[in-house]
Amino acid sequence: MSKIATLEVDGQKIELPVITGSENESAIDINKLRDLTGIITIDPGYKNSGSCKSEITFLDGELGILRYRGYSIEDLAEKASFLEVSYLLIFGELPTAQQLEQFETDIKKHTLVNEEMKNIIDGFPKTAHPMGVLSALTSALTAFNPKAVNVDNEKEMYEAICKTMGKFLVIATWTYRKSMGYPLNYYDNTKGYVENFMHLMFQLPTGPYKANPIIVDALDKLFILHADHEQNCSTSTVRMVGSSHAGLFASISAGVSALWGPLHGGANQAVLEMLEEINKDGGDTEKFLAKAKDKNDPFRLMGFGHRVYKNFDPRARIIKKAAKEVLETLGVEDPILEIAKKLEAAALEDEYFKSRNLYPNVDFYSGIIYRALGIPTDMFTVMFAIGRLPGWIAQWKEMRENKEPIGRPRQIYTGHPLREFKSNK
Ligand code: ACO
Repeated sequence: MSKIATLEVDGQKIELPVITGSENESAIDINKLRDLTGIITIDPGYKNSGSCKSEITFLDGELGILRYRGYSIEDLAEKASFLEVSYLLIFGELPTAQQLEQFETDIKKHTLVNEEMKNIIDGFPKTAHPMGVLSALTSALTAFNPKAVNVDNEKEMYEAICKTMGKFLVIATWTYRKSMGYPLNYYDNTKGYVENFMHLMFQLPTGPYKANPIIVDALDKLFILHADHEQNCSTSTVRMVGSSHAGLFASISAGVSALWGPLHGGANQAVLEMLEEINKDGGDTEKFLAKAKDKNDPFRLMGFGHRVYKNFDPRARIIKKAAKEVLETLGVEDPILEIAKKLEAAALEDEYFKSRNLYPNVDFYSGIIYRALGIPTDMFTVMFAIGRLPGWIAQWKEMRENKEPIGRPRQIYTGHPLREFKSNK
C-alpha cells in the first residue's frame, strides 16, 4: 500500500504522496505543495532534499554501503576494470567482452584533440591550477564540437559519450604538461585507457616510456572508486547545468569547477598539504587534532567527515589497504603515511570526532597513493575528475533521457521591502 504524509499548515491539512526507492528509502513528494498551499520548503545545502530519482548509484551513509547499478564497490574495485565500470555506469549493464572491446575501440576514434586547442592552452600562465585549465579546456571543446547531441538518437549519444571519454583524458594530462613546460603529448591507440594516462603524462620526446603495470593497476582501481557517488556537489552541478539543455562538454566543465573546491574533490590535495605541514612541524598529530576541534580556528581535519557517510566511507577502507600494498610493492617509505595512520587512529578515538560521526573519507588516503605513483600534488583533483567522468556522463544521460525539467530552486526573500528611490549621491 502506498504511504501518505499529512501536513497541516495554518489549519489546512493536505496529503502528500510518499515514494519509496528500491532500497526502501522514502521521500515525501512535494511537487504539488506550492500549488496546494502557496508555501515552499527550504533546505540550504539540500541536506534533506532529493533532486531526482536515479537508477545509477546507491549509497547508505549510515551503513557505509556504496553500489554502482547494484554491484558493490568492493566487488567492482577487485574484479572489474575502469572502462568496464564506465560502461556499466553509463549504459546500465556490465559489458560483454565484445561490447567492452567495441567501447574501447570507439573511444580510440576520438582521442585526437583539435590542434587549435593548443593555442588556448598557450594562453594560460604555467602557474595556473590544472583544475582551472581543465574546466576551461573542457568548455572550449564545445567550440570545436558545436553540434548539439540529439539525446533521442542512440547512435549520436553513444558517439558523444566516446568523444568525451577520449578527449577529456587527453586534455586532463595536457594541464600537467603545460605546467611543466613539456610538449603536449598524443594518445597512443596501441595502449589501454589507463595506461594511456601514464603515457600522456610522462612519455617525453627524448626517449621511450613504459608505464609500471603495478601503477596502472592501482590507478585503474582508484578511478573505479571515484567513478560515481550519486547526487554530490559536482554531479548535481552537471545535472543542473544539463537541465537547461546545455551540452555535455559545457555541463562537465561546470562539474570540474564544482569538484575543484576543497570541501569536495579539492580535499585530496588539501589532505596531502595538511599531512606535509604536520610532518614539517615535527609530526605532532595531537596539536593538529586540537586545532581541528577548536571552534575559533578555521582549520579542519581534511579528508575527515562527509555529508552522507556517518560511518566509514567504504572507498576509504579500500584505498587505505591499496595504499599500504602499493607503497610496499614499490618499496616506497613515506613518513606521510605514518602520520596519516596516527591521525586517523587518534581521531577515531576522540570524542569530538566520534560524537559527530566524522570518519576518514575517500580523500584521506588517495593522495598518499597518488604521491607514491609519482603524480604531482596539483594534479590530485584532476585524477578525481578523470575517475568521476563516467559518473557525470551517466547522470547527465539519465537526466536528459528522463526528460527532467530545468533545475530552478525557489527562495525565501529576506531583503528590504519596497523602498522609494532616493539617490545617495
Ligand atoms: N574537521 C573538524 N570538524 C569537522 C570536520 C572536519 N573535517 N568536518 C565536520 N566537522 C564538524 C563541524 O565543525 C560541525 O561541528 P558542530 O556541529 O560543532 O558545528 C560538524 O562536524 C558537522 O559538520 P558540517 O560542516 O555541518 O557537515 P557537512 O555535512 O555540511 O560537511 C564536509 C561535510 C564538507 C565534507 C565536512 O565534513 C568537511 O569540511 N570535511 C573536510 C573536507 C573534506 O574532507 N572534504 C571531502 C569530502 S568527500 C568528497 O567530496 C569526495
